[in-house]
Amino acid sequence: MKNITIVLGSDHAGFEMKEQIKKYLETQGVKVQDMGCNNTESCDYPDFALAVGEKIRTGQCQQGILVCGTGVGMAIAVNKVPGVRAANIFEPEIAQLAREHNNANVLTMGSRFIDLEKAVAITEKFINTPFAGDRHAKRVDKITAIEKQYSL
Ligand code: RB5
Repeated sequence: MKNITIVLGSDHAGFEMKEQIKKYLETQGVKVQDMGCNNTESCDYPDFALAVGEKIRTGQCQQGILVCGTGVGMAIAVNKVPGVRAANIFEPEIAQLAREHNNANVLTMGSRFIDLEKAVAITEKFINTPFAGDRHAKRVDKITAIEKQYSL
């Protein structure tokens, strides 16, 4: 297992799954930081997406995992943070490709649409698959260039 720190976050809909993913990562010896939420009381997913994105932007954590009901709100919100490349993933194979081709650094998942077994399988692929580089690096660089084009 890589020597990286993974930052976690969820809203109320993703809380239980986030807790389970945290347990899984800890049993694998992965360092985690949990930015909340801390219970199933209703809360707003952008708050936790921002907290996780900021850890990625500053380099304090190398990968992030966010869980909400669909994974969609988390992905939209965290992708606003510079340096974040988030993908909302429902299948392990897509997790592998998101790492290999897109160098995705944040995984988002929808707790209302996948079960825990699938979420763990997706997480396992995401954290263990390296970026393939090569022709994909040029394309990811183009994504970064788009981000720079719109930065102040
Ligand atoms: C909360 O009900 C839900 O909207 C949220 O978890 C997420 O699915 C948003 O994208």
